[in-house]
Amino acid sequence: MTMTNNSIIALFMMIMSMHSLADTIDTTGQAPYEQCGYCHEYDGNSLMPSYPRLAGQTSEYISKQLRDFRAGKRHGQMQATAELLSDADIQIVAEYFSSQPVIVRSHEKLTAKQTKVAQQLIQQGDGDRNIPACVSCHDKNVEGKKTFPRLAGQHQVYLLGQLLAFKTGERANDDQQQMQQISRALTEQEMRLLAKYLSSLEAPESQRKQSLNRQIGQQDG
Ligand code: HEC
Ligand code: HEC
Repeated sequence: MTMTNNSIIALFMMIMSMHSLADTIDTTGQAPYEQCGYCHEYDGNSLMPSYPRLAGQTSEYISKQLRDFRAGKRHGQMQATAELLSDADIQIVAEYFSSQPVIVRSHEKLTAKQTKVAQQLIQQGDGDRNIPACVSCHDKNVEGKKTFPRLAGQHQVYLLGQLLAFKTGERANDDQQQMQQISRALTEQEMRLLAKYLSSLEAPESQRKQSLNRQIGQQDG
């Protein structure tokens, strides 16, 4: 037992010194999505609130964001990682994360009144203030379609951060500035409520099972 441990440690030390000699992390043989796990978790259900969940996000949206980060159209911590991705890598990571099952861990409780206000904006919007219903673009269960992102089950902190960034124009990679206009029409209180409500939405059980089966199927084949 001790012998085994010692040889593992020796091997580890050897690998580490090889790495420090090369002054880089050797990613040879790693799938392009493996490095993403440090921040987004390997199944894309990131635990840290400022790192967005990628699980169940549409592959078209993931690809668009990575291309935007790479081109400097969207800013932030992701830019450095995105700059290293080839078009082929982007395709692989987008498909990988979009097929991961969504695991919602939010324990937010909203009052009946808060739920009603959030649902009203999401389902109907507010015509008087030119706010279209969120579902008209983000799909009927706000689970996203094509380049319209999934919002259901996303981290509250992240959602609020993005709405505020659209409002100030700090994030401006939305085509036709749709989200910049909508976020300017929303009050900060509404944004907080929407972020809280959206983060608590779980995928229907049937869908969670489906994506799990799909994942198991992929591993078998
Ligand atoms: C060092 C931590 C870190 C690593 C590693 C990382 N990301 Fe990110 N990622 C972030 C942060 C933080 C954001 C939030 C965007 C920002 O910086 O404003 C983000 C945002 C994203 C977004 C946008 C999500 C959305 O909802 O708009 C995508 C897509 C993404 N990352 C994919 C990836 C992929 C794929 C990899 C691996 C190739 C990866 N990330 C590696 C930290 C990381
Ligand atoms: C006219 C279409 C449209 C409507 C309506 C709309 N959105 Fe969006 N939204 C988008 C698009 C497109 C993006 C992605 C922009 C991009 O390419 O980066 C987006 C992105 C977002 C994001 C960032 C998500 C992420 O993962 O980074 C949030 C949050 C968001 N929308 C919230 C809302 C809310 C809340 C509403 C309703 C009040 C709403 N949106 C209504 C089109 C729309």
